[in-house]
Amino acid sequence: MPSPAETLLKPLTIKHLTLRNRVMSTSHAPGYGSDGKPKERYQLYHEEKAKGGIALTMFGGSSSVAVDSPAAPWNQISVADDSVIPFFREFSDRVHRHGAALMIQLTHMGRRTRWDTENWLPTVSASARREPAHRNTPKEMEDWDFKRIVAGFAAAARRCKEGGLDGFELSAAHGHLIDQFWSPSVNRRTDKYGGSLENRMRFGIEVFEAIRAEVGDDYIVGMRMSGDELIDDGLTNEDCVAIARSYAERGLIDFVNVLGGQARDHMAHAVSLPNMSFPVAPFLHLPSSIKREVGIPVFHAQRVTDLATAARAVEEGHVDMVAMTRAHIADPHLVRKLAEGRLDDVRQCVGAGYCIDRIYVGGDALCIQNAATGREATMPHVIAKAAARRRVLVVGAGPAGLEAARVCAERGHSVLLLERAAAAGGQIAVAAKATWREALTGIPRWLTQQALKLGVEIRYGVEATAALVEAENPDLVILATGGRPDRGDFPGSDLAVSAWDVLTGAVEPAGSVLLYDGTGQHHGASCAEFMATRGALVEIATPDRMVAEEVGTTNQPIHLRELYRLGVMMTTNHTLVEIYPEGNRRVAVLRNDYTHEEEERLVDQIVVELGTLPNDGLYFDLKELAANRGEIDLDRLLAGRPQPVPDRGFALYRIGDAVAGRNIHAAIYDAARLCKDL
Ligand SMILES: Cc1cc2nc3c(=O)[nH]c(=O)nc-3n(C[C@H](O)[C@H](O)[C@H](O)COP(=O)(O)O)c2cc1C
Ligand code: SF4
Repeated sequence: MPSPAETLLKPLTIKHLTLRNRVMSTSHAPGYGSDGKPKERYQLYHEEKAKGGIALTMFGGSSSVAVDSPAAPWNQISVADDSVIPFFREFSDRVHRHGAALMIQLTHMGRRTRWDTENWLPTVSASARREPAHRNTPKEMEDWDFKRIVAGFAAAARRCKEGGLDGFELSAAHGHLIDQFWSPSVNRRTDKYGGSLENRMRFGIEVFEAIRAEVGDDYIVGMRMSGDELIDDGLTNEDCVAIARSYAERGLIDFVNVLGGQARDHMAHAVSLPNMSFPVAPFLHLPSSIKREVGIPVFHAQRVTDLATAARAVEEGHVDMVAMTRAHIADPHLVRKLAEGRLDDVRQCVGAGYCIDRIYVGGDALCIQNAATGREATMPHVIAKAAARRRVLVVGAGPAGLEAARVCAERGHSVLLLERAAAAGGQIAVAAKATWREALTGIPRWLTQQALKLGVEIRYGVEATAALVEAENPDLVILATGGRPDRGDFPGSDLAVSAWDVLTGAVEPAGSVLLYDGTGQHHGASCAEFMATRGALVEIATPDRMVAEEVGTTNQPIHLRELYRLGVMMTTNHTLVEIYPEGNRRVAVLRNDYTHEEEERLVDQIVVELGTLPNDGLYFDLKELAANRGEIDLDRLLAGRPQPVPDRGFALYRIGDAVAGRNIHAAIYDAARLCKDL
């Protein structure tokens, strides 16, 4: 078997375009658009992948071609008028300079969007069938809709060509307009666009024919589609193979980009963007089934997170181009590292889904573990050396401390990292104990390995004290001592144990358990699942309107599926106000947040999840000894300027949950942003 580098670094030619290797990123909508345009932030994000060796980067997930498929809701790109062309030109030049190709995804979202933004136009679809995920019932398309939307696609295609892009794909995947026509789950028409598969394919064919008439046969045009909608009333694998074959044989498309599933509802969406609960490459058989039947290159993305799996997908002939989309969000330089034989240095995507989950609550895509992604204007992916080498002491080997140690070592400083526990990871080590979240351990594993490689000295089992810190005579002290569970201060709160106690194994769940989740984050749901798998009878109660309310759209469905499967009872809209003992059992008093009526639960154990409070004892012991009294100059921090250098003693900085309980990304960003300039 050839090495991953031998397989993946082979070029692929599509028409006149030679892609320098087999690794690409599929189009995604990171929420970096501004006024519907890909401006500097968007361009720098993709330029970084081009610098990192990628062959083809596709931007502009779900870029719109018509006014009733608005770009505004997720800060996307609008290709519905000519004003976007200069941005495309600048963007293509920027990416081409580094030897990569640049394409976009064009689409009309049909019913898969919102009507209550931007233009306030009703959504349209093949039939007036409600889309559960976007909560809207579209208008059934009439003759003049067909005409203007087909023309909109053709005009958008022209803009891509004029903008110097190497090509584009049309999305007929995830339940966009073209596949809304294909799918019997949506299309109930009785005219020439409904009924037989041939009729259901007609709208898409008309779109591609209009595009070809506009851009000619030489321009590269592809299609993204599902290889099996994976729903009872949807397109089967057989249907999808027939569609791909038909479009390819008509000469309409130059490549087909195949994925598994579609995204009409919450669970389907989670399946189409598989998180860490899925095995790697779970749907590779679907592009493979289409590749056997078409003579054009086949692309595929879906949880190909490591280069060995990517190489296997190409080497065994399942795909021609392997997309590592989130893998590039986690590490935009992964192809360069492959070429340089530095596979160990690749920061592998762990499948946390933080990137995608943020955009569904109106945010921008950020990687849970790589604070530079999407922030290329201010945060470097390659850390520069400092002018002077300094002695840095970091306390705490959770994500914040490990990232601080890594970045300081990259700066060329001498770094000592002290950790109280016997191993690194901090709260990640606790979270990863829960059923399907084990892959989180990849984050501290990579950070630790990098820190050691860069010469960081790590001492485990050491409780740092002020005296010990002073004895090391450091120039800089970075405290990343993390948090401890907040146990609440309501009457009887001392009778509860924390979710940490359970996940770390300090307390064994037994009998009937009430888990009170005050944060709606992963930890409460994870802990409930963990206890149920160990045989406990579990009820989860929360003041939120649903369980795991803060968990994002590709993760929450997995929690809900597991909680239902394990028979966990779910009680929403209730606050835990009191606990009192009854014999050796406990009574939990839950108050309805709306009626204020109280209910009681007699159980064997009560577990609370209320987030963390900072471990800040060492910080306050050191504060008056430090030259800067622990102060971080926030203006300098935000401006990307170094902190003032003390003229005596050491400077002290506190980062991560040791300041205030937040999340893994915040801890890593705290560390990287501060340390890149120290
Ligand atoms: C933030 C984000 C936004 C996405 N938006 C789109 C989109 O607009 N259109 C699309 O076809 N796919 C979209 N995707 C899906 C990706 O193209 C890709 O199919 C998915 O991430 C699975 O591949 P991966 O496991 O290599 O990341 C998005 C993915 C992410 C992470
Ligand atoms: S947030 Fe998670 S899923 Fe997204 S790129 Fe980073 S590691 Fe991968």
